[in-house]
Amino acid sequence: MQQIRLVGGRPLQGSVAVLGAKNAVLKHMVATLLAPGHHVLGNVPRILDVTVMGEVLHHVGAFCTREGNELTIEVPEEPLAEAPLEMVRRMRASILILGALLARRGEARVALPGGDDFGARPIDMHLDGLEAMGAEFRLNHGVLEGSAPDGLHGTDIALDFPSVGATENVLLAAVLATGTTLIRNAAREPELTDLAEMLIRMGAKIEGAGTSTIEVHGVAALQPTYHRVVPDRLEAGTYALAGAITGGTVTVTNCVPDHLRMELRKMNDAGCVVTTNIDSITVSGPDRPSPVDLATLPFPGFHTDMHPQMVALLSVAAGTSLLTENVYESRFRYIGELGRMGADIHADGQHVVVRGVETLSGCEVDGCDIRAGAALVLAGLRADGETVVTEAHHIARGYDGFVAKLAAMGASIQAH
Ligand code: UD1
Repeated sequence: MQQIRLVGGRPLQGSVAVLGAKNAVLKHMVATLLAPGHHVLGNVPRILDVTVMGEVLHHVGAFCTREGNELTIEVPEEPLAEAPLEMVRRMRASILILGALLARRGEARVALPGGDDFGARPIDMHLDGLEAMGAEFRLNHGVLEGSAPDGLHGTDIALDFPSVGATENVLLAAVLATGTTLIRNAAREPELTDLAEMLIRMGAKIEGAGTSTIEVHGVAALQPTYHRVVPDRLEAGTYALAGAITGGTVTVTNCVPDHLRMELRKMNDAGCVVTTNIDSITVSGPDRPSPVDLATLPFPGFHTDMHPQMVALLSVAAGTSLLTENVYESRFRYIGELGRMGADIHADGQHVVVRGVETLSGCEVDGCDIRAGAALVLAGLRADGETVVTEAHHIARGYDGFVAKLAAMGASIQAH
């Protein structure tokens, strides 16, 4: 998918089902490396990042096959201790292979990770945590080489910030380490809790996942398992906002409304009518949203990955909103693109001032990352005339059937 062309002005109506979370399934795929044998993941989305992670696993000797929404992974007795450098550079989630390979092989070689361009995204907390467990690292011509000559051991780790990736990397290493690991100031994201649930099913001893202190009692070996991936709250939230920005009514099914509590509260504050059921959310958008102030924070705060889509909604609010980005130092490239569509938005440091305009006008814009691309499509659904979102392959990294799902709810939209 190179570009998405759409014509705005049609209120979306209908329902859309979401699949498993990108930010969970990629980690679950890595977690399978902890136990040789036959694993099955259910509710797996058909997205590019899953394909790339499949290639990463293939490189270390695991074999993925897909049937419908189920992904089967055959993990060898001895996975290779080196991740494919180019792929790790392309996808940040693959850095988790470090913890898994150190736990299984006592050594690991990976490239320093890349990922979306949100400013510096260091991995110092990942490395500090693993070092505290007995790993040693050295950087050799851009390749990070890790080893745990005497094996990994449990310890007391306090993260500077509740980093999702650092918590996960330490968790993957700790489940097979000797003794007890405490992870303090741990991330509490639902995708991480889901990873812990999968590991527990594999035989790991983990307490406190979903709270700020996770306690892991290392075990000698784990077994393969079946696990159904937690629904994608970002996909759910994006479709809810797509309905809202068009003044339509969208029901998102197969999701967990509780995982979007803060985001739904802010949609409600913006004048949307939000109702939830046990596994569905219905959002009706107002003619013109009300302005809302918000700050992104780790879960259960407003998710940074919902920020661009929310700014798209607020760009047509009747008033001025203030958004503060607390997770990344910069993820504002999409603002210039929204500006080309007539939005009046200014970023100053971590703060974004969104002065609502009455109308947006369609034009060609650059969908520079997954959520930026989604936000620009949402803006296009509201805009007059045709919008063309280029670099749309980013959207395919994180959304399964994005264009088809929006078209099924009445959008005039095509992928090229
Ligand atoms: C994950 C998600 C990403 C989401 C983010 C925050 C995946 C594949 N990606 O990314 O979509 O936006 O959580 O919810 O799950 N940091 C450091 N040092 C570290 C680690 C992180 O300074 O060692 C900083 C990062 O630069 C960033 C902040 O901490 O500013 C949060 O990062 P983190 O929670 O680790 O995000 P990811 O796990 O990379």
